[in-house]
Amino acid sequence: MSHDDPQPPAPRPATVPRTARLVVLISGAGSNLAALLAAQQDADFPARVVAVISDKPEAGGLEVARAAGIATVVVRPADFPDRAAWDAGLARAVSAVDPAWVVCAGFMRILGPGFLAEHAGRVVNTHPALLPSFPGAHAVRDALAHGVRVTGCTVHLVDDGVDTGPILAQRAVDVLPDDDEATLHERIKVVERTLLVETVAALARHGVGLDGRRARIGG
Ligand code: GRF
Repeated sequence: MSHDDPQPPAPRPATVPRTARLVVLISGAGSNLAALLAAQQDADFPARVVAVISDKPEAGGLEVARAAGIATVVVRPADFPDRAAWDAGLARAVSAVDPAWVVCAGFMRILGPGFLAEHAGRVVNTHPALLPSFPGAHAVRDALAHGVRVTGCTVHLVDDGVDTGPILAQRAVDVLPDDDEATLHERIKVVERTLLVETVAALARHGVGLDGRRARIGG
């Protein structure tokens, strides 16, 4: 073939799979998980949940996953001799499905050093407050007790602290005069689901770069 000969077109499948594999970690009802599953009904959504892992066999989100035909795994601390062994077991369960991103969506445990040694940089968490205000397990209660007028939600990369990793996206929610923890959390969760879906899509499409603590999706 001479240099000027036209090159044959490269063979191409009819649809090119360009989706990032997601593992979602849950402990609860799984409404954030359900939002991701709903989003991936759209063929253009750039990520797919391939497995859901819970620390609790009774987590409602496991049923959400099963109903959608997604593989589920339970990794219970009680089945391991200590925290480090559980952490390693969780890391193995995640590695087994080879995800591009690990999404903590209402996962109420701290990921330990063993887990992060294997998966750091690709773990994101959604938190129901505007970090760095109100980290921890009682963010909505703490924000309400503090008397803030505006709170919200944060999607961030997970590092070895409690809700301290670089922030990817935040959205504000007004606190209403009559709010209690349940009503406020419910309104935050509506906003949080959309923010999580949008952020996961952006990460899957563009990746993320870090400049110190400052995360830039696509940068
Ligand atoms: C979310 O608000 C999450 O940020 C918090 O717990 C809630 C989980 O909700 N840690 P769900 O299980 O996704 O419905």
